Amino acid sequence: MKPQTAPLIVRTALREAFAQLRAAGVPSHTLAAELLLMHALGRDRAWLYAHPEEVIRDSEVHLFTSLLARRAAGEPTQHLTGKQEFWSLEFEVTPDVLIPRPETEHVIEVVLDRLAVREIRAGHKQTFSGEGLQIADVGTGSGCIAVALAKELPGARIYATDISSAALAVARRNAARHSVSDQIHFLESNLLDALSVVEAGATHESQVTRHQLLFLDLIVSNPPYIGRREASTLMREVRDHEPEIALYGGEEGYELYAELIAQAGAKLKPGGILVLELGHNSLPAVQLLLDVPLWTNVGATNDLAGIPRVIAAERL
Ligand SMILES: C[S@@+](CC[C@H](N)C(=O)[O-])C[C@H]1O[C@@H](n2cnc3c(N)ncnc32)[C@H](O)[C@@H]1O
Repeated sequence: MKPQTAPLIVRTALREAFAQLRAAGVPSHTLAAELLLMHALGRDRAWLYAHPEEVIRDSEVHLFTSLLARRAAGEPTQHLTGKQEFWSLEFEVTPDVLIPRPETEHVIEVVLDRLAVREIRAGHKQTFSGEGLQIADVGTGSGCIAVALAKELPGARIYATDISSAALAVARRNAARHSVSDQIHFLESNLLDALSVVEAGATHESQVTRHQLLFLDLIVSNPPYIGRREASTLMREVRDHEPEIALYGGEEGYELYAELIAQAGAKLKPGGILVLELGHNSLPAVQLLLDVPLWTNVGATNDLAGIPRVIAAERL
């Protein structure tokens, strides 16, 4: 933003912000400028465009100017506003969690489709609340998958794990924000290690002592899947600002899937469903891991860009 000599009005603020962010090479610079001005003024987009002549207060000009400078230097818009929408729900976002991505909504769609097919096969009614389902979300991050599923399936119990305690703190706040804390049990864990399976009728103690865990009906995960060797190709917003533990799955990217699929095989019920998000080039490696007699009905779903983004399978 240029130093202001006259009072700054909304239209001018937007025009100058578009130019500043475009010059800095910020992707979707128009949207970013709008979101930052909305945040600085505490207004929505409709208000901005309905009040182009409104004079902006000095304190708001200072805030907007500093947000623009940080965005131009590469900080993600969501770290500046502290939020991101996912599955039509607003999530708190901090530098401790991956910013929920629109592609991940395909994971929710596949989960709901697979569960619906299972219900139809079992001759149950088509609309159901997930009553009695035991679900695990591995690498929950902001909690976006776990919270979206809790809203869609109010009868389900969800175990959400993450290796990062800082991420789990954000996920817990998001569950509280959406009033689903009672449905989701957050666990600091490598993959599913903290979920010891207790056979029905068995008496030995589970690590999940307060909620005796039987075999799971569904395991879902958006694991870290970028290869470290791809780091230099990432946008600075991602490489320099999102948590490494959330981004990189190993040198190639798909390394974590082998352990995750092995654990899922041991912890799913027969007929249980596994749904995994895929990196842009992970499909061949992951498909191979599911190409064993334990798994059936393996299918991939493309995202809107035509990239295989989700793989799902059923445990025999
Ligand atoms: C790609 S992010 C996904 C976050 C969120 N589920 C989403 O879809 O936006 C991967 C998450 O897995 C967690 N993670 C990485 N390695 C893990 C491991 N070995 N066990 C459990 N969680 C892990 C990271 O901390 C991060 O929160």
